[in-house]
Amino acid sequence: MSHEKITIALARNAESIGKAALLQGWVRTRRDSKAGFSFVELNDGTSFGNVQVIVPNTLPNYETDIKLVTVGSSIIVQGIIKESPGVGQATEVEAKSVELVGTADPVNYPLQKKGHTLEFMRSIAHLRVRTNTFGAVARVRNRVSFSIHQFFQENDFFYIHTPIITASDCEGAGNMFRVSTLDPNNLPKDNRGKVDFSEDFFGKEAYLTVSGQLNVETYCAGLSRVYTFGPTFRAENSNTSRHAAEFWMVEPEIAFCELEENMDWAEKFLKRIIGDVLRDCAEDIEFFNKQIDTTLKETLEHVLQSPFIRLSYTDAITILQRSGKKFEFKPEWGIDLQSEHERFLTEEHLKRPVIVYDYPRAIKPFYMRVNDDGQTVRAMDILFPKVGEIIGGSEREYRLSLLEDRMAEHKLDMESYRWYADLRRYGTVPHSGFGLGLERALMFVTGIANIRDVLPFPRTPGNCEF
Ligand code: 4AD
Ligand code: MG
Repeated sequence: MSHEKITIALARNAESIGKAALLQGWVRTRRDSKAGFSFVELNDGTSFGNVQVIVPNTLPNYETDIKLVTVGSSIIVQGIIKESPGVGQATEVEAKSVELVGTADPVNYPLQKKGHTLEFMRSIAHLRVRTNTFGAVARVRNRVSFSIHQFFQENDFFYIHTPIITASDCEGAGNMFRVSTLDPNNLPKDNRGKVDFSEDFFGKEAYLTVSGQLNVETYCAGLSRVYTFGPTFRAENSNTSRHAAEFWMVEPEIAFCELEENMDWAEKFLKRIIGDVLRDCAEDIEFFNKQIDTTLKETLEHVLQSPFIRLSYTDAITILQRSGKKFEFKPEWGIDLQSEHERFLTEEHLKRPVIVYDYPRAIKPFYMRVNDDGQTVRAMDILFPKVGEIIGGSEREYRLSLLEDRMAEHKLDMESYRWYADLRRYGTVPHSGFGLGLERALMFVTGIANIRDVLPFPRTPGNCEF
């Protein structure tokens, strides 16, 4: 009889009952019964749950091999899928043969059955995907990435690959990683004693990008609706649970679009992601709801159903001031909202996502459209319960002279940004966009509190392992 190679996800499904199947995966547990069988829980990552394999001690290699089938080892099983008499599983597999592919020394293999802390798991990031938590995170991360593409593709957006290496600082925060091939022990100097970057690889200073926005804006002014989705880098020396030095950002840019429409897009987009995860990662979400955050499902359903509150920055400051709450940073008009302020608004005061817009011009980047009041810009940040800022976006300044004023205000070199200003010189249109931090979205949908646990290999200050 030939055995069909199928996934464990499929083998667990009742529709597979009766099939002769070939299954490959990693052993989660093995238990030997006195009745002449071993029970092996097998997982291949295709689903949260394992399939139970029943191995009779009459197999010819039972004594030599099955006894070495310990936690973490890899095996190939051929057998028949049967209806399971056990609760909580539709099927089980009656093994006809078991091939031991790779053993895992039970003394040294770090993932024995007992629960480990997330902190410990970070020190074994190369093995942690074989656990319930990190397998689930990886599947959800995959689903969210796919939803992002689906949402934009279904809405006539084109996917643009913007460069990773750049000479411009989009956000103006000065927290960029330098890209250079100069020998740090033998730097060329100019006649003023400064490093001569004209001798560097690109003939000038270059960095890893903090955002693809400026480049994607150029494609927007020709393709109408575009998005970029890729890794971005920030050398922020802030050791928080929500900041990584390397993270993934998706940035749509929409032509002929003002701030209100931008907010509509962002809200629809976030709800699409949450809805897809709830539907397609149900088993993983169930697990997070049990093990990580018991309010998770309720929160996701609630956000899915509630219209986001839209609140001007000025009104947000007033609410904070009148709250009677003692904040570490005193809320005053002009400050950037701190995480304690964001949490108060989303978790205590409004109890749902909030879109804060029209921020003071002094605390926002040069490219945002200035309001008629001259004091504020058409910025919007979307704040979520627990994770705080999940999206940052704005309507862009599309009027050349006002953009030039803002560039001067930010002391930008006009010549280096001439190409960006050209978009306002030739066929300018009102346009808007935003950036969603993929990991912030993942923290929200999984309930996982630390960004280090939703990135496969987190890069944070002082940490570049694996
Ligand atoms: O608010 P930010 O800085 O906005 C931009 O970069 C704009 N260029 C986006 C645009 O309008 N096209 O970053 C956008 C989002 C934040 O809201 C946050 O979710 C995420 O990126 N983010 C980070 N995520 C993880 N670690 C960091 N260090 C992050 N910095 C920003
Ligand atoms: Mg921001």
